[in-house]
Amino acid sequence: MKPLKSIVEPGYKRWLVTGGLGFIGSHFIRLVLGAGRAVSVVNLDAMTYAGNGANLADMSNHPSYRFLRGNICDEADVDRAIGDGVDAIINFAAESHVDRSIIAPSEFLRTDIMGTHVLLEAARRHKVSRFLQVSTDEVYGHIASGHAKETDCLAPRSPYAASKAGADLQALAYANTYGIPVLITRGTNTYGPYQYPEKLIPLFVTNLLEDKPVPVYGDGDQVREWMHVEDHAEGVLHILERGVAGHVYNLSAGNARTNLEITRRLVQLCGRSLEAHVRYVQDRPGHDRRYAIDASKARRLGWRPKVEFAQGLTATVDWFRTHERWWREIKNGAFQKYYREQYEQRLAP
Ligand code: TYD
Repeated sequence: MKPLKSIVEPGYKRWLVTGGLGFIGSHFIRLVLGAGRAVSVVNLDAMTYAGNGANLADMSNHPSYRFLRGNICDEADVDRAIGDGVDAIINFAAESHVDRSIIAPSEFLRTDIMGTHVLLEAARRHKVSRFLQVSTDEVYGHIASGHAKETDCLAPRSPYAASKAGADLQALAYANTYGIPVLITRGTNTYGPYQYPEKLIPLFVTNLLEDKPVPVYGDGDQVREWMHVEDHAEGVLHILERGVAGHVYNLSAGNARTNLEITRRLVQLCGRSLEAHVRYVQDRPGHDRRYAIDASKARRLGWRPKVEFAQGLTATVDWFRTHERWWREIKNGAFQKYYREQYEQRLAP
């Protein structure tokens, strides 16, 4: 195994990042290693369908980076990754797609709840000085009006959201019972390069680039808040370094948009037409109409999202245009089975 700087240079901190080959996790690792921090990163990733070595290929030879293939549900894998000890655990590893959680919820309970539990136990055994759980605004459920605060009740309404809420509650219970220095971030919908093309924005962009229809669930008036992945990664890092142990922090850049507004803009950016490409299809069961969170607590700690939404969206479409090989490889593989299962009937004429 390649030695890490932390072993050679005692001033270095060691962080265990889980799920670091996924969308937000890979951006987080790139941010940490690129910022010249005295931190070495061990990335534990199970390489499920969404964990992709190509997402972090540029970091694979970085002297302060080590990759370990393994599952957060497996205590031996986690212990191997922790080795002689780590200063922090940052848990990005999760099953994260609502539609998949509706088709097959068990894997969500296993990874999101039991996996987090295994990590919390490891944090307890190894006396880790920071444990950051990456969560989601979906744990608050549908917000009819106003913006959810960190102290609001959790009301998850999909198997995915319920699994993430379960993990949050466990983490808080470990903070209370065992004094584990837990932090939780709850981010909004996120977009940007390397997002697996099952989520709204990358699915629609790649379908449009392929000249295929885009499936809008129900009336398309559901509202989500959107944050660029680099802002999300910076938010997690900010809370890790400045957050108060035992606290929850919402992360939002605002940018509330209906799905139709997003769809119209993507159609335009891809040079397609609404009439030819937009298909209104059968709604997602239990579909939450609106998510909205108040991120003033994180802002009070000095976190500021930087990416302006219109620019971020244009740049993201450009990225998918210029990284066709990355997403074609995904779409030509196991993704096809999922796509058929999820959309074939919905899109049938
Ligand atoms: P998604 O990207 O799956 O994120 P989440 O469900 O976690 O918010 O979906 C974002 C919104 O887009 C959500 O309201 C569902 C909607 N949507 C569609 O209308 N069609 C689709 O094919 C997908 C994937 C999502």
